Amino acid sequence: MTIDSNAAQEADETDPLRSFRDRFELPEGVIYLDGNSLGALPKGVRERVAHAIGTEWGTDLIRSWNSAEWVNLPQKVGNRIARVIGAKAGTVVAADSTSVNLFKVLSAALNLNPGRRTIVSERENFPTDLYIAEGVARQLGGKHGLVLADAPQDIPALLDEDVAVLMLTHVNYRTGYRHDMAELTKAAHEKGILTIWDLAHSAGAMALDVEAAQADFAIGCGYKYLNGGPGAPAFLYVDPRHHGGFRQPLSGWFGHRVPFEFEPGYVPSGGVEQYLCGTPPVLGMVALDEALALWDEVDMDALRRKSLALAELFMREIDAFADEFGLRLVTPREADKRGSQVSYACENGYAIMQALIARGVIGDFRAPDIIRFGFTPLYLNYAEVAQAASILRAILEERAWDRPEYKVRTAVT
Ligand SMILES: Cc1ncc(COP(=O)(O)O)c(C=O)c1O
Repeated sequence: MTIDSNAAQEADETDPLRSFRDRFELPEGVIYLDGNSLGALPKGVRERVAHAIGTEWGTDLIRSWNSAEWVNLPQKVGNRIARVIGAKAGTVVAADSTSVNLFKVLSAALNLNPGRRTIVSERENFPTDLYIAEGVARQLGGKHGLVLADAPQDIPALLDEDVAVLMLTHVNYRTGYRHDMAELTKAAHEKGILTIWDLAHSAGAMALDVEAAQADFAIGCGYKYLNGGPGAPAFLYVDPRHHGGFRQPLSGWFGHRVPFEFEPGYVPSGGVEQYLCGTPPVLGMVALDEALALWDEVDMDALRRKSLALAELFMREIDAFADEFGLRLVTPREADKRGSQVSYACENGYAIMQALIARGVIGDFRAPDIIRFGFTPLYLNYAEVAQAASILRAILEERAWDRPEYKVRTAVT
C-alpha cells in the first residue's frame, strides 16, 4: 500500500483500526510519535486506577489481596501479554523491570547450559541489556565472556559450541532494525545455544509468535506499545520446556511454591511464577491490566500493515528534503527488517527534536545524533504523520532549531 500526503485523509477514513484512537486520551495539538518510549493513556485506566485506590485500597484495605485478586495480578497480566506475543497462558508473568527480568532469565539460561562460557549479543543492543550481562557474568565468578557482534549479519558466525546464550533485542531501539527471531533462534538451537529475546520494541508493535519461533526466554516493557504507564511492570516469558528445569537467583517468596505457608526453606514454583520475587506493585499492575484489555480486539495483521504504511509515508515525505538538510535514514527500508519506528542521524539532532516538540510533534533523541519517531497504529493517523513531516521540513528550512534554549540538554532526552 502506497500512501502519500494527498491520500492520507482518505487512508484515515478507510483505516480498519481508526476506532481505537477514541480509546485513548490524547492532548489537543500534539502529534505523538513517542509511543515507542511511553505509550499514551488508554481511557479506562484513569477510572480503574481510581477504583483501585478509592475502593480497593481506601475501603476494602488488605482484604483486596483476595477480593480484588491483587495477588494474582502478575499471572493475570502475564496471560494478557502472552496473547500479544504469541505465547500460551501460564508462560508469561508481569514483574519488576525489563532489566531485572533479564538478570533473572540470563542467570537461569546460563545455569541451563553449564560448561559453555560465552554470551553473544550486539554492540548496538540497548545498553541495560549489556550492563546486566556484565553483572550476571561477574556474579557467576567471571568465567563467562560477552561477545558482541558489530552488525546483525555478523551474528550467525559467532554461534559456536562455546556459546551458552544468544541474547538479542528483537527491534533495535536506535535504528529500528528488526531481527528474524525464528531464523536466529533456529541457528542458535542447532548449536545447542539458548536464546533470550528482548521484545521491548516489538510487543504491541507487531504480531509476534514466540512459541512458533521457539524462543527460550523473552522479556519486555509494559510502558511502551502496551501503554501500561510510566514505570509499568515489565514481563518475562519462559518456554514451557524449561519450566521446572531452571533456577533463577532472586528466590523471593512470591516465587515460592506455597508463599503463604511461610516455610523457612525456598521451594520454587514449578512454573513461570518462579520468576516472581516480591510483592507486586499493585497500582502499576492494575493500570497495565486495564491497558491490555483492548488488545483482544486488535487484528495484529492490520496493526502491522498500518505500522509499516505510517512509517513508509513518513520516510517518503522526508525523502523530499533529507539530503538538503543532512538527514540520514538509519532505519532499513525493507519492511521485514524494521519495527515500528523511523530514525535519522543528523547534526543538531537534539535541538531539532526540541524545536519539533515546541511545535507539538513529540519524538525523541538518542545520543549521539539520532532523532527517533515511533508509529503506534492504534492512536496515530496518516494525516498526522504527513503533517509531522511537513513541520520537520519547516523547522529545517527556517533553522528554527537554532536557538539556545533548544540546545540545553534535559535529563531524559
Ligand atoms: C530494548 C530495551 N530493553 C530494556 C529497556 C529498559 O527497560 P527497564 O527500564 O524496564 O529495565 C529499554 C528501555 O527503553 C529498551 O529499549
